[in-house]
Amino acid sequence: MEVVVSHTPEETARRAATAVLAGLPSGTGRQPVLGLATGSSPLGLYQELGRAVASGRADFSAAHGVALDEYVGLPPGHPEGYRQVLLRDVCGLLGLAAERLAVPDGSGRDLPALTAAARAFEERVTALGGVDVQVLGIGANGHLGFNEPGSALTSRTRVKRLSERTRRDNARFFARPEDVPTHCLTQGLGTILEARRLVLVATGDTKSDAVAAALEGPLTASVPASVLQWHPDTVVCLDEAAAAGLRNRQYYDEAASGLTG
Ligand code: GLP
Repeated sequence: MEVVVSHTPEETARRAATAVLAGLPSGTGRQPVLGLATGSSPLGLYQELGRAVASGRADFSAAHGVALDEYVGLPPGHPEGYRQVLLRDVCGLLGLAAERLAVPDGSGRDLPALTAAARAFEERVTALGGVDVQVLGIGANGHLGFNEPGSALTSRTRVKRLSERTRRDNARFFARPEDVPTHCLTQGLGTILEARRLVLVATGDTKSDAVAAALEGPLTASVPASVLQWHPDTVVCLDEAAAAGLRNRQYYDEAASGLTG
C-alpha cells in the first residue's frame, strides 16, 4: 500500500490523477476500464483527469466507466441518482460516452429485480475484462462504496441498507433529509478487491479517524475500507487533515520519496 500525503487538496488530486493514469493500460490494445466513485472526495481528481484530456496527456474516448454504487428507488433521471451524477460531473470532463458507463440499475421494485440488476452489473464488468483502476472515497464511518460496517469482506454487488450516519452525511444533496434513499446497490468488497489498482482519495479532518482505522487498524468488516490492506496495488492519496490520525506517517513520507530517499 502506498500512502501519499500532500499539503493541499489540490496536490492530493494531482497525485491521485497520476496514480490513476499510471494504472490504466496503454499500448496493449485493451480498452481501459475506470471504476468511478461519487462523492466530493474525487471531484478534484476528475478535474485533473479532465485537464489531462484537454492537454492531450490522456484519452478516455475508448475507455469504459464503471460505477461503484447507485441508490435504490429514485425516479429515473433524478439528478442525485449516481448515473446522472457521473454523467454530469465526470463523463463530460473525460469525454466518456454515456453508453460506455455501466451503473447498477437501482430502479427495480423488489429484491429479485434488484438482485438480478446486481448480477447483470457484475456480468457486464466481467465482460469488460474487469476494472483497471477503481477510484474510491471513504465514508466517515469507514464505508467503501456503500458497504456499510458489517459488510462481508468477500461480498459481491448487492442491495444494502444505508446506515443513518450515511443518510445524514448525504442529506446535503437532497431537498429534505427524508428524501435520501434507505437502500442502494453497491459493488461488494470482494468486487472492489478484483480491480487491478485501487486509488482512494480522502481530504479533511472528518475523514481522519476512518482513514487511520482503515489503514492501520485491524482488517475487519467493522471498518469496510480496511480491505484496502488486502489489495496488492492500493494508492491512498490524503491531505494533511485526513492523514492526521496516522501513526506511521514518517514511514509513508520516506517511502513516497522513492528509492533515492
Ligand atoms: C458516498 C459514496 C461513497 C463515497 C462516500 C464519501 O456515500 N457512496 O462512494 O466514497 O460517500 O463521500 P464524500 O467523498 O462526499 O465524503
